[in-house]
Amino acid sequence: MKILFVCIGNICRSPIAEGVMQDLCKAQNLYWAIDSAGTHHYHIGEAPHTDSQKVCKKNGIDISKQKARQFTKIDFDKFDIIYALATDVYKNIEAISVNKAQMKKVKLLLDELYPNQNKSVKDPWYGNYSDYEDVFEEINLACQAILKKHA
Ligand code: 4NP
Repeated sequence: MKILFVCIGNICRSPIAEGVMQDLCKAQNLYWAIDSAGTHHYHIGEAPHTDSQKVCKKNGIDISKQKARQFTKIDFDKFDIIYALATDVYKNIEAISVNKAQMKKVKLLLDELYPNQNKSVKDPWYGNYSDYEDVFEEINLACQAILKKHA
């Protein structure tokens, strides 16, 4: 299984998803390919936000080595499932796609917890540390649901 998590900047939400999913796979001895990207270029090359790093570290996950990268068309070929962390991200990915087959791989992450409710993991960029804790909890539950479904 090859899974890509996508948000806007690839520095707050999707790095947490990458770290959590990799951690869950490791615990289950699953050799899945897990990556993350952002639909915007603002933070290319940067490490995850300090609060994303902090909440992961508190949960025993080191995401400090991650580097932000931008989502590209090639990602449609490289991954089996592409999870958009929010509805605006989904629309951004749709705008980059060139055919319907590509969009068949793209799902809203929170559909794994709340099917057909069109829910987004809230952007914590202008928030405080407790927002990052909420984001972590939600992403953690969604990743566990993914594991249960596909492992
Ligand atoms: P992310 O959060 O999409 O979870 O990485 C954001 C990070 C940066 C910006 C927006 C969202 N920004 O506008 O720079």
